[in-house]
Amino acid sequence: MRAPDRNRTHLPGPRPARAVAHTATAVVLLLTLPHLAAPPHLTAQDADLERGAELYDRWCAACHGFEGDGQGPAAEYMLPRPRDFTGGIYQIRTTRGGELPTDDDILRMIDEGMPGTTMPGWEGFLSRADREALVEYLKSFYPPFETMGEPEAVDFGRAPRATDEALEQGRILFDSIECYQCHGGMGRGDGGSVPDLEDDWGNPIRPADLHMNWRFNGGGSVEEIYRRLYTGMDGTPMPAHSDLVDAGIITEDDLWSVAHYVRSLSPDRPPRIREVIRVDRTEPGELPSSVDDERWEEAEAFYIPLVAQIIVMPRWFDPSVKAVWVEGLHDGEELALRLTWHDPSQSPDPAWMEWQERILEAMEPKEGDELEAGPRPDRFALQFPRSIPDEARFPYFLMGDDRDPVHLWRWRSDEAGIENAIAMGMTEITPLDGTEVQADAQWEDGRWRLVLRRSLEADNPDEEIEFEEGVSIPVAFYAWDGDHGEEGTRGAVTSWYFLHLMEETPVTVYVAPVAAALLTAGLGILAVLRAQRREERAEAPVPEDRPVAPGDGHGEPQPETGG
Ligand code: HEC
Ligand code: HEC
Repeated sequence: MRAPDRNRTHLPGPRPARAVAHTATAVVLLLTLPHLAAPPHLTAQDADLERGAELYDRWCAACHGFEGDGQGPAAEYMLPRPRDFTGGIYQIRTTRGGELPTDDDILRMIDEGMPGTTMPGWEGFLSRADREALVEYLKSFYPPFETMGEPEAVDFGRAPRATDEALEQGRILFDSIECYQCHGGMGRGDGGSVPDLEDDWGNPIRPADLHMNWRFNGGGSVEEIYRRLYTGMDGTPMPAHSDLVDAGIITEDDLWSVAHYVRSLSPDRPPRIREVIRVDRTEPGELPSSVDDERWEEAEAFYIPLVAQIIVMPRWFDPSVKAVWVEGLHDGEELALRLTWHDPSQSPDPAWMEWQERILEAMEPKEGDELEAGPRPDRFALQFPRSIPDEARFPYFLMGDDRDPVHLWRWRSDEAGIENAIAMGMTEITPLDGTEVQADAQWEDGRWRLVLRRSLEADNPDEEIEFEEGVSIPVAFYAWDGDHGEEGTRGAVTSWYFLHLMEETPVTVYVAPVAAALLTAGLGILAVLRAQRREERAEAPVPEDRPVAPGDGHGEPQPETGG
């Protein structure tokens, strides 16, 4: 990651969230490359199957196994595990629950991959003919594909409109048809059934976090969600709801309203990842210090994905926390940050002990240093360099080293609360008698919110970071879910991001935007009036879902010339 210059005015642009998933996949592939030299397994008769087999052994077998049984050498490093193709079980189908998928269904998963898992998409990488050959080869692992003939795709119809009533109806049905049992009341994957959920192969499986539709295996649009609700996801506990429709308990429209409700829990577009977290300045004394303070509405939330810590031993391939949202404000004296992350339990919670045991069993056996299941708190840490680094010289992002230590704020969910520390590597951490950091934390409905507040100046400036306006300060984040068996090196990490404390805006600079805003608003009103007059003349009603208003996301209204 690049270091921004100290007085940077242009913040770096966004970068798509998918990039991170691909990096994770690349790491897994690299780890398994030595195994790719295993002898090819050629059972195929005709040329297509032979081509499919060749491609499969080369690109898929490290995860899915040379026999198609899901037991590739890399398999035990991932949850969900790679699919075992020998049982004909496919999650993402256009066919009814329990039926085989169509060729197009399989092709689509190969093309697009499954976001939120290690299954990569191959569309830009293999030709269509090759991907079709792979479909044929996968089917050969389960002979009934040949004897049963092509299954029939369901006609799902078209999505009705997402009216307020539909969304409300969807919310009510979410409870009454018991989605909450698994997905949790607010849909964050924290339902009471989760600790003993398992897939068809006996592995622990977590329900999707319904607030992150960009991580759904089969896609995040309302149409795709409806299909998953209707057909279920074979091989997982996610049930097919077509039987409720067939039995007349709910209608198709009811199920569409659930799909609309689920869709509404995620933002319109997947969040962009930005390297610089903007920390706006508020009036002195107006800084929030509790998680519920309304003044947080003034701050923009920055989405930061976390990835598995797979560098320092013992590594950890199944991090529980997928992302943190960071909001920041400062008042020239103090800095306040609100950190929000999803975590299905307030650890340590005895109801989740069984889950922890199953996760440790599924993910542990490889690397010695076995971890016992036990009551562990949730933890979160922020890492800073001890002083603002020059140019590109940053401490090592995994908690520094003995030459270049880092300053930590370490928080835990038990009485210990927050403390300052100095780290010289992930396992060399010593408490530091530093500037007081105030913390306010709250866990509710599968979500932690944590507010941290500290003076910009530090008591101990040789060891602790001092915050300055107009300067980008490196920061990295770490999260551990205790009930997921996480502590020490086993957790979720980021590399360096930057906190940028905005400077007080000089009055002269301030006046110009106000004038510009007034002018734009004036032009906007003009445009609306003109449009209304045109409508009246044409006697065409304004469509309900496309109100004519300035600033509706389609760009600023343009002043018209003539009329
Ligand atoms: C890095 C590991 C990895 C590699 C390489 C990989 N897969 Fe997968 N694949 C997975 C995982 C993990 C799943 C299961 C995800 C889940 O169950 O949520 C999966 C699932 C699938 C599915 C099941 C889709 C469904 O609807 O259930 C298909 C089909 C598939 N992979 C095909 C392939 C093909 C073909 C290749 C090679 C071109 C390939 N995979 C390479 C990890 C991998
Ligand atoms: C018995 C537990 C259970 C129930 C009940 C349940 N789900 Fe799920 N659901 C799951 C699991 C587990 C997954 C994750 C499957 C995976 O990632 O492989 C999932 C996945 C999903 C997904 C993500 C689909 C994708 O493409 O990845 C959506 C959306 C969803 N469920 C919505 C619902 C809704 C809405 C209901 C109620 C109508 C519901 N679920 C009921 C367990 C359940």
